[in-house]
Amino acid sequence: MKTRLPIFLAFVSAALLVGCRTPGDSLSIGVPAGRAIDAGSFDPHSFSRPDRVLVRHIALDLDVDFDNRRLAGTVMLFIENRARVTELVLDTKDLEILGVSIGHDRKETSWRMGDEQPFMGRPLQISIKQSTSLVTVTYRTSPAAAALQWLPPEQTAGKKLPFLFTQSQAILARTWVPCQDTPAVRMTYEARVRVPPGMIALMSAENPTTRSEDGVYRFRMPQAIPSYLLALAVGDLEFRPFDGRSGVYAEPEVIENAAWELADTPRMMEVAESLYGPYRWGRYDVLVLPPSFPYGGMENPRLTFATPTILAGDRSLVSLVAHELAHSWSGNLVTNATWNDFWLNEGFTSYIELRIMEALSGRDYSEMLATLSLQELHDELGKLGAQNPDTRLHLDLAGRDPDEGTTSIAYDKGQFFLRLLEEIAGRERFDEFLRDYFDRFAFRSMDTAGFVSFLDSELIRDDEELERRVAIEEWIFAPGLPDNLPRVSSTALSRVDREIQRFGEGISANGLDTLDWNTHQWRYFLRGLPTPMSYGQMEDLDRAFEFSTTGNSEVLNAWLLAAIENRYEPAYPALERFLTGMGRRRFLLPLYEALARTAEGRDLAGKIYAKARPGYHSISQGTIDAILDWNS
Ligand code: BES
Ligand code: ZN
Repeated sequence: MKTRLPIFLAFVSAALLVGCRTPGDSLSIGVPAGRAIDAGSFDPHSFSRPDRVLVRHIALDLDVDFDNRRLAGTVMLFIENRARVTELVLDTKDLEILGVSIGHDRKETSWRMGDEQPFMGRPLQISIKQSTSLVTVTYRTSPAAAALQWLPPEQTAGKKLPFLFTQSQAILARTWVPCQDTPAVRMTYEARVRVPPGMIALMSAENPTTRSEDGVYRFRMPQAIPSYLLALAVGDLEFRPFDGRSGVYAEPEVIENAAWELADTPRMMEVAESLYGPYRWGRYDVLVLPPSFPYGGMENPRLTFATPTILAGDRSLVSLVAHELAHSWSGNLVTNATWNDFWLNEGFTSYIELRIMEALSGRDYSEMLATLSLQELHDELGKLGAQNPDTRLHLDLAGRDPDEGTTSIAYDKGQFFLRLLEEIAGRERFDEFLRDYFDRFAFRSMDTAGFVSFLDSELIRDDEELERRVAIEEWIFAPGLPDNLPRVSSTALSRVDREIQRFGEGISANGLDTLDWNTHQWRYFLRGLPTPMSYGQMEDLDRAFEFSTTGNSEVLNAWLLAAIENRYEPAYPALERFLTGMGRRRFLLPLYEALARTAEGRDLAGKIYAKARPGYHSISQGTIDAILDWNS
């Protein structure tokens, strides 16, 4: 069946049941320029059928059981039976369903679990009536739920209390909440969460700033969000405000450093608002997690989750906050409709991240970041091959795990495509175009074709010359890099180029002009060094610049890569400390990959991984298992 979705502007019964009307109360799927998306069959990563029944609001009631590593309780799903069907299909993975009822009187109803599919999980098929508006599922999670990482006290800074955090993107929400786990559907939510005494629970919602007496926390999320932005963290946490609408949470041992490092957050918010319109989520706080967090950051609404590896002590890695904050427009407000449209989230966000950094730190600073991004893009293209279909902006991930199929192409190629549009249309016009885009499609989902048609009608506007210069089709639907790739130029990095060359010509490390170099210059220096280098050269560099003991995770990461490539063994203790001390996948992956390229390296990787693996998140474990052919 192919159903075209009308724009839905009716009364939102679910939102009203809990006493809130929401900014997202029209149907969430974007209907750009008169076209609509068929929500019935277009998301290859969900079993749900939001074209038939739509979940508009959920109410969670969960106990957090650290002893058994389970969440247990109920989810009430407030639904709209659009097609008057007799079945609601939800996504689940590794969930134990204990019972399902319908209506406010909670009448038991029949349900069944469909067959398990790799990485997708199992559909939960629930019998409903045409008139059903409430479904309640009683369930508990599995200790192996992929979205949940349960940390023993030793993996926290305080070492006294355990810690729990979730990571729902891309399709892991279904491992802790039975839901329509597709970014094409948005819902509001509320929750009641019970945790052990002395701990704080936080969600991607209105949050507490102090501990509750009884360990019970109540949450309300009045803005509609897709399931991948559902988030929960529980730990021994403290809060520090920056100003009236933003602040930071971290463990007491970390809060001081975190508050100092991220103090520019309010300015970032102001800059982003001046570019793209009001921040529509109320508060913006950052939660600095323990080091096993598998990502740099995750844009959970109202509460970005961040790795502590950005706490460099000099504010040099805060563009990560600019990135996650930027998602408050690109991603959280206008959301990729499927994971094939991932570049609409990440490419736009990477572009905006640099615009924020430019306003905050100047053009040469953002050009430095752009140059590093361009290097990354060339590396990724080299690795994947320029004809690889995964180098297209619009992806085809059907039948594959989106967490494995998405690469940095969406970020870097996506970013350069937007930069090209900016350069060709002119900054003023392009800024206005983006502002309109966020406004027009706020609280909706957008697919690639929808964006292209908006671009056509609002920016290209039958200007054939403009159209020819941009080459939209090539950028979005073809692999590799078009030859109208924008140029970047950074004077700060040109200085580094000169010193790289001098080092290559035999000048010793101490003889290089590295005065006042910042983190990004060091990163660029390290990745630009000649290969191979002699033991003596590596030793010279480490003595002069003390790379092996740097507290800057990005610099250390780049140094350790060079150490592996040049088999510089004195750095291996630092390598082991780094790999066992944090679980950020973007650092782990290249290091383990580099080790796996030689027999001795593979041996060392195996030894380190055996120790480190239990501390990694399942997402990082999955990635490294594949590199090392690890069978757990
Ligand atoms: N939303 C992403 C993280 C993500 C992507 C999680 C896909 C799961 C699936 C987040 O905004 C992000 O891009 N994080 C980056 C940092 C950023 C500064 C490039 C990361 O974690 O490395
Ligand atoms: Zn992102």
